[in-house]
Amino acid sequence: MDHEFHQLRVAEVKRETPDSVSVRLEVPEPLRGTFAFKAGQHLTFRREIGGEEVRRNYSVCVAPSEGLLKIGVKRIAGGAFSGWVNEALKAGDTLDVMAPHGSFCWNFEAQARRHYVAFAGGSGITPILSLMKTALAVESQSQFTLFYGNRTSAGVMFLEEIAGLKDRYIDRLGVFHFLEDEEEEIQVFNGRLDRAKIDVLLSSLVDPAHVDAFFICGPGPMMDAAEEALQARNVEPSRILVERFTTGPLSAAQAAAARALEEKAAGLKMSITLNGRRMNVTFDPANRSILDNVRAAGMPAPFACKGGVCATCRAKVTAGEVSMKVNYGLTAQELAEGYVLTCQATPVSEGVSLTYDV
Ligand code: FES
Repeated sequence: MDHEFHQLRVAEVKRETPDSVSVRLEVPEPLRGTFAFKAGQHLTFRREIGGEEVRRNYSVCVAPSEGLLKIGVKRIAGGAFSGWVNEALKAGDTLDVMAPHGSFCWNFEAQARRHYVAFAGGSGITPILSLMKTALAVESQSQFTLFYGNRTSAGVMFLEEIAGLKDRYIDRLGVFHFLEDEEEEIQVFNGRLDRAKIDVLLSSLVDPAHVDAFFICGPGPMMDAAEEALQARNVEPSRILVERFTTGPLSAAQAAAARALEEKAAGLKMSITLNGRRMNVTFDPANRSILDNVRAAGMPAPFACKGGVCATCRAKVTAGEVSMKVNYGLTAQELAEGYVLTCQATPVSEGVSLTYDV
């Protein structure tokens, strides 16, 4: 993967709701290959704010077939980057952007006849919109059901666009909105998408046994509730695709165990490959993670969230052993293939060798 940042010009900033915008980026011809993406992937942005480098990931909200590159950005309380995008960013500005990445993806096939179900909350709609449009466009016989939770109707991102898709794919797309702060006539559509409501939906509106894949993206509690409800119905993990934007802190016990492991790893030698260059790095617990040790050694290893969520810091272990504090960004298959999130990783053996060039 290309780990460089590229300067892309902003073609359009469109207000979607009072606290969100969509941003369309121009991709010059020589960078078309670099910025080709799969539905569900995201982009890493970099900007200096208040003398500090800030990195954020935002999901692409269009289908690859649309020939556009567009993200949705919801302002979060105290969010330096999202606040700046919502208030100050305008057409003609440039943004530092890394090539698309992420594994919240599905292999859509033209001949398939499938049923997909998505649970989205708030700005979690962005990657799901990309997946939904792609599923409907690529698989002309497939069905898609969207359960979309928000606080108010005014805060629903892409409301008109989703209504347009509903008209266009009238027989194949089902859309159900859930509002926390507004009363609907039908009781089930009031309130948040919690476990009890999701259980009702899985018993009445969709039968998990006949669903090929579930896509889940939104606030943590909603995602946990959806995942737990599906697991309780014995849906195989390979049919549950989850994309997290943020995660909570470690418990005190987890943090203490992670710290002890870092201390134990002091002095372990690692061989790191990045951008075709190989370097030996000695683990220093003061730098906490393999990622920060690699960067402290002068290698510009990629990262964004540093919270185990976005997988921007992904690398492959080719020798030795490492341990991760948390992993919300890698699939079971990636883990089996030896990938780790270096922002969460500590070496637990001598002779760890890992490469970012995969
Ligand atoms: S930087 Fe996001 S998972 Fe490591």
